[in-house]
Amino acid sequence: MSSNNQLSLFEYSQPGQKELIPTNSKIPIPPGTYENLTELKKHCQQCHRCELGNTRQNAVIFRGNPAASIMVVGEAPGQNEDETGLPFVGRAGQLLDKILASVQLDREKDVYICNVNNCRPPGNRTPTSEEIAACKPYLLEQIRLVDPKIILLAGATAVKGVIGDKRGITKIRGTWIQWEGCLCMPIFHPSYLLRNPSRERGSPKWLMWQDIQAVRAKLDLIGNHN
Ligand code: URA
Repeated sequence: MSSNNQLSLFEYSQPGQKELIPTNSKIPIPPGTYENLTELKKHCQQCHRCELGNTRQNAVIFRGNPAASIMVVGEAPGQNEDETGLPFVGRAGQLLDKILASVQLDREKDVYICNVNNCRPPGNRTPTSEEIAACKPYLLEQIRLVDPKIILLAGATAVKGVIGDKRGITKIRGTWIQWEGCLCMPIFHPSYLLRNPSRERGSPKWLMWQDIQAVRAKLDLIGNHN
């Protein structure tokens, strides 16, 4: 693509405003584009790389500690998240906080929480492959800036969106996967646990308890130094 063509994929965000924003997912966002999360966040609020930019109330980027050793990646914002601009604040988020707290991980101090997609898909449908691809540079930039030791991939969309593995979550949850210098662990999405409340041995909740304990043990082994 020539540089003129590339620029034509950007628009001025408002008349008279100097800053160019991406309006097309074909425009690359190379690693190193953002100096910090504030810049990235500001950019995302104006993003229209995919159709989800037309229906969102807020782009939802992250909550928690940008210096944390653990990053949690979910799927996409739901209604509560779209309204508040913060990820995982609804019922699934409250359950996620409890899961983390069960192994003494504080939701504000010990983790950085974000999503594969920053904008809510209408009706909470699963984001399409195009929407995931359009948002991926923002996720990769967050991973570069936060530089976590461990990434928890909550649900199949997070697994697909980060490491590109299309296997079902039931197959790969609880296994450590090396990816770009990070240790990734696929885990069930908290919404799935809300739909499967049994705590019996072998149930999704029971398996999550095994997985989060394995995460705690790994963190203790490698050291929780920010
Ligand atoms: N589900 C997600 O995957 N992410 C959120 O932020 C909320 C619910």
